[in-house]
Amino acid sequence: MKHLIDPMDLSKEELDQIITLAEDIIAHREKYQDSQRYKKLSTLFYEPSTRTRLSFTSAMMELGGNVLGFSDAKSSSVSKGETVQDTVRVVGCFADVIAMRHHIEGAQLYASEVSRVPIINAGDGSHSHPTQTLTDLLTIKRELGHIDGITIGFCGDLKFGRTVHSLIKALSRFKDIKVVLIAPDELKLPDYIKQDVCDKLGISYKEVQTMEEVMPELDVLYMTRVQQERFLDQDEFDRVKDSFVLDCAKMALAKEKMAVLHPLPRVNEILTEVDADPRAAYFRQVENGKFVRMALITKLLEWKDDPSHGMPEGEEPVYDATLRCTNAKCICNNEHAPHKFRRSDNGTLRCWYCDSKIK
Ligand code: NCD
Repeated sequence: MKHLIDPMDLSKEELDQIITLAEDIIAHREKYQDSQRYKKLSTLFYEPSTRTRLSFTSAMMELGGNVLGFSDAKSSSVSKGETVQDTVRVVGCFADVIAMRHHIEGAQLYASEVSRVPIINAGDGSHSHPTQTLTDLLTIKRELGHIDGITIGFCGDLKFGRTVHSLIKALSRFKDIKVVLIAPDELKLPDYIKQDVCDKLGISYKEVQTMEEVMPELDVLYMTRVQQERFLDQDEFDRVKDSFVLDCAKMALAKEKMAVLHPLPRVNEILTEVDADPRAAYFRQVENGKFVRMALITKLLEWKDDPSHGMPEGEEPVYDATLRCTNAKCICNNEHAPHKFRRSDNGTLRCWYCDSKIK
């Protein structure tokens, strides 16, 4: 069965099928309005969300299906101590597909190991956010007409920003992508993405200090919010919170056809004066999120019983009783998930669930 936990769970063909279907949904909305009648999506949100949860809900409603779930785990049996694995076993008796957001990294991967219905990762800690990635890819395609060959600048919180991690991974499925990383030292992209994604999969990247020096090169500028809730140290947050701000003066340096994306919510990293610029694509991006989730739900339900659309054959997990994942926000330190690992090509061991480096 196909779940969407990590962007790399989708092959390039599957990714293209989802984007193509989303474009068809946009062109012929009436054709799809009853297509998932009697099907149920469950939204299990253990972490705050406006856009993503409502986007999933409206996507399923536009397909003619129903939605059940919770937006506050305190109102569910989680408050009695139920594990995510038990919760998805239970919810799988009611729903055909589950969208889950969790503050614990790897929670959805762990849940998918026992689920009898497809699980969609709607964000796990600062780790992954693959449906935002689908939204971003569809937006780039619609704004620029193509994804291959783009130069994309990621600006802001590249350390904790899960949307950035997932989009860079997915871009490795496209040709001739150039990535520019614009972040203060404290918020740089984690090494595992640089090594295991960019270096291994051939995405060229460079790190720069200012937005001004790269604005003229960019086809896409991907702005992000500094993720206050993921900082362990308030002083560190205060030092970096106003690092990079996009305004009209910086937009004046950019290409005429550049697209500005932002997963939202924004705080102060894009001034509202930029909103009127036709290159500001972030509110169009929100709507694309609904269309691409309609396509994703449709495809996962179609692929559910099709053995040719399973999870990718990955490497075998490594078990070593002497090693433990040290990430306090990983599922294996919060529930009885086993401490298991994956070995990268360069010999590094990483946690199976959260990708933290073990040794
Ligand atoms: C993002 C998220 O939740 O990671 N928002 C979203 O899903 N649209 C980005 C963020 O919270 O900054």
